[in-house]
Formats: sequence, structure tokens, C-alpha cells
Amino acid sequence: MNAHPMSTSAPTLVRPPLVAVEKLRVDMPLGRSGSNVNIVDDVDFTIGVGERMALVGESGSGKSMTARALMQLDRIARVSGRIDFDGADLLKLSEREMRKLRGSSIAMVFQDPMSFLNPLMTIGEQVAETLRIRGVGKAEARKRALSVLDELGVDRAAERIDAYPHEFSGGMRQRVVLAMALVGEPRLLIADEPTTALDVRVQDQVLDLLDEVSTRRGLAVLLITHDLGVVAGFADRVMVMYSGRIVEDGEVGDVFARPRHPYTQGLIKAVPRIDQDLAALYAIPGAPPPPMNRPSGCTFHPRCDQRVQCCALELPATLQVGRTRVACHLHDAKGI
Ligand SMILES: Nc1ncnc2c1ncn2[C@@H]1O[C@H](COP(=O)(O)OP(=O)(O)OP(=O)(O)O)[C@@H](O)[C@H]1O
Ligand SMILES: [Mg+2]
Repeated sequence: MNAHPMSTSAPTLVRPPLVAVEKLRVDMPLGRSGSNVNIVDDVDFTIGVGERMALVGESGSGKSMTARALMQLDRIARVSGRIDFDGADLLKLSEREMRKLRGSSIAMVFQDPMSFLNPLMTIGEQVAETLRIRGVGKAEARKRALSVLDELGVDRAAERIDAYPHEFSGGMRQRVVLAMALVGEPRLLIADEPTTALDVRVQDQVLDLLDEVSTRRGLAVLLITHDLGVVAGFADRVMVMYSGRIVEDGEVGDVFARPRHPYTQGLIKAVPRIDQDLAALYAIPGAPPPPMNRPSGCTFHPRCDQRVQCCALELPATLQVGRTRVACHLHDAKGI
């Protein structure tokens, strides 16, 4: 699973869009000041039926906020733009309609399975709960919970369905959390760093499982991760986020074989290699700016070793370059 990010994959088929996001913007209120801070801006992407999309970028770039906006999880967030899911604009739905959609059409799993599980409820009760909320009867919900636990490789599921979370290992708990997400048969699964808390071997098992399930069910996945090895092994396409914007996106093979944005180039260069001496490890200089203090022009320019004069002055537009889309002046007329 942990193929090196430089590996290439065959071009994927064009799939009908399940999700189409246009000009997504997320602002958060700044304390009680009445003013807002912009977290995510001008984000456009589509995810096809059954497609695996990865979202990468350093900490604080806005990955989780983008995902949470799709699910409309933050009541205080000001979200604008368009989020088309299977033909409906999610931003126009009421909270009640959105609640119906969460779990049944779009489900989400988070990084830390333990904080997501209730220690006082059995595994079976927790998996069945997603269905019970939707009015499914107790016996039927238990039957479906058992079937999904079985599908996700929880062995002796019929016995262990009545166990409590502390009786499960980390990897097994992550399977339970996945079962909770998948029991409602969503068409899109958003997985926010689902394996970061797990050791590498268990991480590979969980990703293989996700790979199998998404293929079998035709499930689309938006996978948020820091790990480019995971992206290379799992995703069809990748979006690179910096400071609230998508700076590059395309098919994984194309982006890794020929990254066009200096930020993507830096992220790939920073992946440690087995044959590398520790002292030769590369890190992109500096740190991402906080949202309330973003530099002018291209927000990456202070850290960019290829910047030209206009980079500090003007925000680059997103252009199609080869088969990827990139927002960088080196690829438009201003950078030449
Ligand atoms: N409730 C909030 N109010 C204001 N700002 C927030 C809130 N939650 C997150 N932020 C800010 O939004 C920015 C993006 O956060 P987000 O959690 O989306 O980053 P991320 O890319 O998921 O990072 P990580 O890789 O660390 O999970 C950060 O600068 C964060 O401080
Ligand atoms: Mg996050």
C-alpha cells in the first residue's frame, strides 16, 4: 500500500460526478468581534461515483474545514458557494434535510476512533444506532450491523457485536468506526486522517479494507491525509491545499510524476526515502501563515524558491497545464 509517491498509475476513466463543489468559501467568526476570518476560499472540485479523491496539505491548510463544510458540521461557520451532491445543492437544504443525508448519503470518519466511540455502549448498538435514528427496527438494525462488521473483517462478529470498545484493538476500533459510517450505505465517505493514529501495519490493513469496500460498493471516498505514500497507494486523484486554496489538482500519477506547483514539488521532495541519509531530509522552509495573516498575492510566495516579481502582488488564477490544474504564476503569462 505504501507505494512511493513517484510511482505512476494508469489514467482513470471519466466518471459521472457525484459531488461538484464550486467556489466554496468558509469563514469563521473571530471571537465576539463581529468580524470573520477566511479559512477556505474559492475551492472547486468534483468527485465521481466510486472515485477516490485525496486532499493533502500541511497542518492548518483547511482540509478538515473543507470536509466539515461538505457535511455542514459547523453551525457557526459561514459557508458559501455551491455543493452539488447527486443533483441537490447541499447549501440550500435545511438542517433537518441535511441530518437525513448525513450517514445515509455522505458519511465521515475521523482520526481518533476512540474519541468517536461511546465506551458505555456495545459495538453492535453503536453501529446499529445510525440506522435506528432513521427508524429502522431493532432486529433489522442489528442484522445489518452484523453484516457490515463481517464485511469489514471483524472476525467472530456474531460474538463480538456485544463487546465494548475497550475490548477491541486500535485497528479493530477503526473498523467499527468504519462500520458505523458504512452501515447506512453512503455513496460518499469522507475519511479525515483515518489511519494517522494507527501503526503502519494496521494503517495498511485499514486502507486495503477501504480500497476493497469502495470498489465493491462503488463508494466514492474523499481521503484527507498528510501521507503522500497513502495517496499514491489509494487515490485516483489528488488535490493539494495551501492556506485555504487548492493550488494543484489532477490524477495522482500525473501530479506525482510532474508536480507543477512549487508547493507540491516541496511536499514530494520532503517525503523521506529509505535510501536517504537523515541529514539530507528536506523540509519546505518556513511555516504556513495563520488565516488572519495571509501574505498578499500568492500566499505561498514567502516560502517559494521559484518566486518571481508578480507573486507577491497578484493571486494566481487556476489554469489547466497539461492534465493538471495549477494556480501558480510560473505557469501563466505573468510569470514568464
Ligand atoms: N472553529 C474555528 N474557528 C476559527 N478558526 C478555526 C476553527 N477551526 C479551525 N480553524 C482554523 O482554520 C484553519 C484550517 O483548519 P483545518 O482544521 O481545516 O486544517 P487542516 O488542514 O485540517 O489541518 P490538520 O492537518 O492539522 O488537520 C486553521 O488555521 C485553524 O486554526
Ligand atoms: Mg484536519
